[in-house]
Amino acid sequence: MGHDGETRLNQNLELNHHPKNMQTDQFPKHHPGIWAVGGGKGGVGKSVISLLLSLALSRCGQRTVLVDADLGGANLHTLMGIKTPARTLNDYLTRKYETLEEVCIRTDIKNLELICGASEILSFANPLFAQKTKMAQSILNLAVDHVVLDLGAGASYNVLDFYLIAKYPVVVLTPQPTSIHNAYGFVRNTVYRRLSRYVSQKPSLQEIVQKAMDPKNNNQMRTISDLFATVRKSHGEKVAFYLTKTIAKFRPLLITNMARNPKDGNASRIVQMVAEKYLTLEAQELGAMEYDPLLEEMINKMIPLSELPKYSRSNLTADRIVQKLIGCTP
Ligand SMILES: Nc1ncnc2c1ncn2[C@@H]1O[C@H](COP(=O)(O)OP(=O)(O)OP(=O)(O)O)[C@@H](O)[C@H]1O
Ligand SMILES: [Mg+2]
Repeated sequence: MGHDGETRLNQNLELNHHPKNMQTDQFPKHHPGIWAVGGGKGGVGKSVISLLLSLALSRCGQRTVLVDADLGGANLHTLMGIKTPARTLNDYLTRKYETLEEVCIRTDIKNLELICGASEILSFANPLFAQKTKMAQSILNLAVDHVVLDLGAGASYNVLDFYLIAKYPVVVLTPQPTSIHNAYGFVRNTVYRRLSRYVSQKPSLQEIVQKAMDPKNNNQMRTISDLFATVRKSHGEKVAFYLTKTIAKFRPLLITNMARNPKDGNASRIVQMVAEKYLTLEAQELGAMEYDPLLEEMINKMIPLSELPKYSRSNLTADRIVQKLIGCTP
C-alpha cells in the first residue's frame, strides 16, 4: 500500500472510529460493536473463539454477523458445517455483489449471520487498498449489533488494520511458550501500527517510530516509554502527549485457549505483565477457555459447533466473556 493510500485509509477509518473512541460507548448508535479476534500464531483457536463468541452474542439477543476475515486461509464455514458456501467475500471483492449485506449467509441460529471467507482466490490474501477501505467501511455500516472478525494468523498490515477498527480487540493464545511469545509480539505490532498510522504524515516522527519498532534498535528505545521520551526531546511535550493518547485507550482482551489446568491461565497474565512493562498497556484478561474434547471431536466429524450443548463448558465460558464485556446474559 502506498503512503497516500495509507493516509487515506487512516482518515477513512478514523473518521468513523477515532482512537479516542476506542472501547468507549461514544459510537454513533448505528455502528455495530466490532470484535476482532487475532493472536499472531496459527492454530491457537482464533476461528473457534470467534464462533463461540458470536454464538454467545446471538444467544443473548444481539444481532451478530461473523466474518471470516482470514483472507489467506478461510475455513470458518467448515466449523459451521458448511462445505461450499453459496456466497463468499470473494463475490464482494470481485464486485459480483455490490454490498456486504448481499454476501451474508443466514444460519440456523437466531440472530447469527455469516460472511464466509474468500480463500479460493489467493490474490485476496492481499487485497488492494481500495478494497480494504471499502470493506472496512462496509463492516462499520452493517445494520446489526455486533460484527465479529475472525482474522488470519500473523501480523501483516491486512490483519492489523482490521484489528485496529475493533472496539473489542481480542487476542487468543495457548499456554505454550511460543504462543505467549507470539501473542505479545502481536500486541506490540498493533501498538506500533497504530502509532505509525497516526504519524504517517509526519516523516520525522515516522522515522523515530520505525526505529523504535526494531527491538534491537541502537537508539536505546527498549520500551514505549523510551520512544515517548525520545519524541519529547526531539518534538516537545505536546507532540509526545498526543502520541501517548493514541494508545492510551487501547486495551487488548486476552483469552488463553485450550487450557488444560488452572495454571495454564497464567499464560495471558504473562502477556499482560509484559505489555504493561514494555508498552504501558493495560491488557484485560478475559479468562481461560478450557480444552474441550467434545469440541475437537465435533470439528473432526464436521458437526457444526452451533450444535454444542448450551451448557457445555465452551459455551458457558463464551457466555461469561460476553457478559463481562457487554453485560448481557442469554
Ligand atoms: N477450546 C478448544 N478445545 C479443544 N480443541 C480446540 C479448542 N480450540 C481450538 N481447538 C482445536 O484447534 C484447532 C485449530 O483451531 P482454529 O482453527 O480455531 O485455530 P486458528 O487460530 O483459527 O487457526 P488458523 O491460524 O489456521 O486460522 C481446531 O480445529 C480444534 O481442533
Ligand atoms: Mg482460523
